[in-house]
Amino acid sequence: MINPEQYVSNNVCKRNVSLVINEFAKELKNISGKCMDVGCGPGDVTRDVLLPVLNSKATIIGTDIMENVVEYANKTYNDKERLKFEMLDIQTKKLPEKYISKFDHIFSFHALHWCYDIRQTFENIYCMLRPDKTMLILSVAHHAALFEPLETMAQDMRYASYMENKGKYIGSFQYSAQPQEELKELLEDIGFQVHHCSHREINMYTSTEKFVSFVTAQHTFAFLNKMPHNLREEFKNEFTRMYSKIRIEKYRGRQRNYKLHNDKETDVPLHYTILVAYAQKIIS
Ligand SMILES: C[S@@+](CC[C@H](N)C(=O)[O-])C[C@H]1O[C@@H](n2cnc3c(N)ncnc32)[C@H](O)[C@@H]1O
Repeated sequence: MINPEQYVSNNVCKRNVSLVINEFAKELKNISGKCMDVGCGPGDVTRDVLLPVLNSKATIIGTDIMENVVEYANKTYNDKERLKFEMLDIQTKKLPEKYISKFDHIFSFHALHWCYDIRQTFENIYCMLRPDKTMLILSVAHHAALFEPLETMAQDMRYASYMENKGKYIGSFQYSAQPQEELKELLEDIGFQVHHCSHREINMYTSTEKFVSFVTAQHTFAFLNKMPHNLREEFKNEFTRMYSKIRIEKYRGRQRNYKLHNDKETDVPLHYTILVAYAQKIIS
């Protein structure tokens, strides 16, 4: 995440987290040990949505790959008793010893779709949990208006050298025909018992400006900082144009008789899908 304040003020995803948390409130209220929130971002969701649903003895370490985000979270939301923030790349092949088999519950919301090595990611979560302990994750599965422009632009000569590996910009389940089945199979293969795994549609009403501002504030867009000013503006304009076009085209595809009223793009919901999984570490 490049700009934590920009992210907090535009957080269009907080509602998704609240809905899922309410759904699992019964399971979560008995958790009283050490928890982690992977890809916590600036910490607002960790403190305002996650911490209140746990038992009052529970503590959370929010972790994120971005140093400035972790600094911001510690400055803004740190609570000496129950909440602190640390840096961690959840795809690492060298998980710090201090995290191994230490956690009673792990959360992750809107972060794992940026992990291109999804197996390593879930293996790390599995390693950090104590035996029989649980994780609750929400990750984006299909998101044409976000991933398709990025995939195309990462191959565009103007931007390719800044964006490097194009696989980084496409969620692991974007092209999966059965994401729910694939995720469940992967988790079971790693050793989780899957208590819940669902694939859900989201329709969100948000302006293009707000969404683009929200998404480009994130770690995945850190390459923008390396671009000269003109190119950065060109990239943002091109991304915005493609995002709007795909969002509208996909909507037309879903609604046969669709007509834009007064060309108002805000009438068109942003459509994407998410995966939600609740699973337990089983040691055989
Ligand atoms: C969209 S934000 C989600 C923030 C918060 N969980 C929420 O739901 O509002 C995604 C976060 O994942 C972090 N992230 C991306 N890749 C990561 C990785 N490999 N390891 C840890 N965090 C990562 C980003 O830095 C960003 O802060």
